[in-house]
Amino acid sequence: MKGIILAGGIATRLFPLTATTSKQLLPVYDRQMIFYPLNVLIKAGIKEILIIVAPEHSGQFINLLGSIFEGVGIHLEFRVQKIPRGLADAFILGETFIGNESVAMALGDNIFEDDLSAKIKKFEKGGLVFAKKVSDPERFGVVEFDEHDNAISIEEKPKKPKSNFAVTGFYVFDNRVVKIAKSLKPSVRGEIEVTDINKRYMKMGELKVVKIKGAWLDAGTYDSLLEASNVVKNREIYKHFDPMIDEAIAEFNQEIKTIAKKRLS
Ligand code: DAU
Repeated sequence: MKGIILAGGIATRLFPLTATTSKQLLPVYDRQMIFYPLNVLIKAGIKEILIIVAPEHSGQFINLLGSIFEGVGIHLEFRVQKIPRGLADAFILGETFIGNESVAMALGDNIFEDDLSAKIKKFEKGGLVFAKKVSDPERFGVVEFDEHDNAISIEEKPKKPKSNFAVTGFYVFDNRVVKIAKSLKPSVRGEIEVTDINKRYMKMGELKVVKIKGAWLDAGTYDSLLEASNVVKNREIYKHFDPMIDEAIAEFNQEIKTIAKKRLS
């Protein structure tokens, strides 16, 4: 399975913070936001990851991640998304990268407390998404369940949500997703929506929706960004990263310190 992190977009809601850097490079407690979705993919055993970035921030992503996993068997690729056409664009931009495989796509601003890796590793076919009970479902894709807990509808940011369950920003699809993404028409907000991909899989009876219990944050506003750092600290999420990530960050820090010392001497 291949992995994609969608880390582009403009993030106007976080101005002026995102006027100088990408949202996904902002700090969440002790590391940049991008490490959280990276962790979900790496913990699930995914070794080839495409990071989709906005043109103006591509250099910053490469400075941080360009060689960080060298020698540990994780291969990162970068791809510029010129215009934020929507979440489903990830599967179009990633077509060659995905090849004939299935793909897990993580939104660059989503932080999960739960370990999703067992479910991801078990994936065989269709689509798999994760839902979390929230108090403000109108901000998200919303999934409705019947009395047997089967997902029966999905709507993107509905004014009158049919449930309190938000579709979180982590999606696993089989290879048909590329073809489906290419066939989508932009929504009223002018984007090609991952929600429309979910709807297609649901219509085919092949969308699995798993409810998650732990904390989940979409760090796209001042408050949710602050909350993300607090939740990561208070629930000690920062202690449960894949050791490969912690080691890579420690080595990166060491390299930067050495370079800084050389500059001073
Ligand atoms: O966070 C979960 C929600 O994410 C889901 O419940 C929604 O169904 C889904 O549409 C999405 O909603 P948002 O409106 O919160 O997505 P946003 O525009 O914030 O984009 C999510 C991430 O993807 C963010 O890190 C920016 C990046 N992005 C977004 C777009 C539209 C890109 O890299 N390229 C894009 O074209």
